[in-house]
Amino acid sequence: MDVIRDPQHMQAQALAWRAEGVKVGLVPTMGFLHDGHLSLVRIAKEKSDVVVLSLFVNPTQFGPNEDLDRYPSNIQRDLELCEQEGVSVVFMPDADAVYAQDASVFVQEEQLSQGLCGLSRPIHFRGVLTVVAKLFNLVLPALSVFGEKDAQQIRLIRRMVRDLNFPVEILSGPIVRESDGVAMSSRNSNLDPESRKQAIVLRKSLQAIEQAVKSGESSVAALREVAEACLSDSDLGTLDYLEFVDDESLEPVTEVGDRAVLVAMAVQFPGARLIDNIVVAK
Ligand code: PAJ
Repeated sequence: MDVIRDPQHMQAQALAWRAEGVKVGLVPTMGFLHDGHLSLVRIAKEKSDVVVLSLFVNPTQFGPNEDLDRYPSNIQRDLELCEQEGVSVVFMPDADAVYAQDASVFVQEEQLSQGLCGLSRPIHFRGVLTVVAKLFNLVLPALSVFGEKDAQQIRLIRRMVRDLNFPVEILSGPIVRESDGVAMSSRNSNLDPESRKQAIVLRKSLQAIEQAVKSGESSVAALREVAEACLSDSDLGTLDYLEFVDDESLEPVTEVGDRAVLVAMAVQFPGARLIDNIVVAK
């Protein structure tokens, strides 16, 4: 396994692979790897000749009062896990090599990024799309794999690929969970033990919604009440949002009908803001 830090070196390697007809799969991450990330590596491995995992805590997707400085890191462990999973290259650039000091071109999506996480994190998706576009240009992957855990993110990336004609196939992996049902997240490590215990309220609320839909409830107002009853079990978490949106347009809906509805939520705990989601339909 190679570790490449220099973006130009990464791009030269990618061009060499392209000339040889090697099919590259890319898994973008911010490191502190867990089984959720590794599940994406396994998907990439199945469909490509070489897998590149990028490990870059992207400063442009963090707002001024967010947790960039506290983002967890364990590079040695990450590299060992990548080696075990058969990753060919870990691309691990420094921030100042990725962004020119006077960088002035960014990728801004204007519809799907407005609601959900976009409301409380207004510059987040501009940073995500910009860095993913840059990674696509540096790694030249035929395919790239993202997790359904970040439901809005993967929908935005698909939209960027469509609207800017990136020749990259986007694949998704299901949410990988801890044994208690909490979605795996690098940020879980920043929770104090009591918050970590209460983090299950996201999953519980979403499961209660799913159950209510199965039992015939279709009114979003009623489903919201079901979730709020679960959320009251946690005194440490503050609801940032719980939204019911059309799975494609991400426009709010008032009823769950035949079309898939994405139910997405974010809860702020003292140490970390957590997200989870579920897709439901009649
Ligand atoms: P990060 O949070 O490190 O996540 C990297 C990838 O792993 C994303 O595609 C995310 O959806 C996926 N992932 C995280 N937790 C998961 C879980 N429990 N189950 C399945 N997949 C999971 O998302 C980012 O980094 C960044 O925004 C990035 C795309 C790398 C751009 O900087």
